[in-house]
Amino acid sequence: MNVLGIESSCDETGVALVQLSPDGGVPRLRAHALHSQIEMHRAYGGVVPELASRDHIRRVLPLARQVLTEAGSTLDDVDIVAYTRGPGLAGALLVGAGVACALAAALGKPTLGIHHLEGHLLSPFLSDDPPEFPFVALLVSGGHTQLMRVQGVGDYELLGETIDDAAGEAFDKSAKLLGLGYPGGPALSRLAEFGDPEAFALPRPLLHSGNLDFSFAGLKTAVMTQLRKLGPEVCEQPKADLAASTQAAIVDVLSAKSMKALKQTGLKRLVVAGGVGANRALRANLNSLCRRAGVRVHYPELHLCSDNGAMIALAGAMRLQSGRASAEHDYAFDVKPR
Ligand code: KG4
Ligand code: ZN
Repeated sequence: MNVLGIESSCDETGVALVQLSPDGGVPRLRAHALHSQIEMHRAYGGVVPELASRDHIRRVLPLARQVLTEAGSTLDDVDIVAYTRGPGLAGALLVGAGVACALAAALGKPTLGIHHLEGHLLSPFLSDDPPEFPFVALLVSGGHTQLMRVQGVGDYELLGETIDDAAGEAFDKSAKLLGLGYPGGPALSRLAEFGDPEAFALPRPLLHSGNLDFSFAGLKTAVMTQLRKLGPEVCEQPKADLAASTQAAIVDVLSAKSMKALKQTGLKRLVVAGGVGANRALRANLNSLCRRAGVRVHYPELHLCSDNGAMIALAGAMRLQSGRASAEHDYAFDVKPR
């Protein structure tokens, strides 16, 4: 059985074909294709929703054709069409959902709406070192920062989350203040490689709060204050130092709370997913802390950390396999932006 997955929640159009394993094992990724809109949005310093929707319309069917060709398949081999139902930009989501439901209706096949974060959460199952249930998941994207206890597919308990900005947002907003380009996360982390993470004492909000919640809104204020002190003509080295210090503050809090969640649940497995999961400093810190604590840590392949169709097709396949989802033949689709 083959699941075609379509992702269009923000600024990446992703399509993939995943095949369910006949013996109940991890589904296999047969092909995937991605178009990033980063270049298009760069001139505006962020995602322009209207442009995003229009570009998804242009890209999604050619990408689907590419995926089927690469997999040596045709539309007749597609048994179910999965798409991102939300959260995300309403117009962008509607493109993926509309195309998925139209394709499915034409083929007489069912559809499956997938939660974007569940896609991220399950994406490490496509890596060479897939996790086993149960585990603690640290979900760190541009819109979300959550710690979850994951017992199995669809069995998720929220342990803590951000009370204001997401970790990716903290990277993006700090990068903007530093005059770095869009997307800010990767740009800030590149600059941080040349800086001293201890040069500026930035706050670690809620580090000792006793719970598993996060708060990152104060960080951008602290970055702004430091920048004001440095004056208008700030040189390259203090800028790199401030980038490194900002990254260190975010990484410290994410790591400490993840370790706390592992201790609290007694679990010995950590899964890190979402765009910020690509951050090298975060991976290095978590690898070292987990090694010391006897915890196994799993990540998605680097190219599957940010949004993609493979994670949506995979989540659809894993939901079907676990009996956690009933595919729909009702093509009156709905999206859930929030
Ligand atoms: O998961 P994702 O691709 O999209 C959402 O679902 O939000 O995450 C995007 C976020 C952005 O905030 C981006 O700046 C951040 O992930 N990001 C990074 C890195 N790569 C992407 N943040 C820090 N370091 C990175 N290497
Ligand atoms: Zn995402």
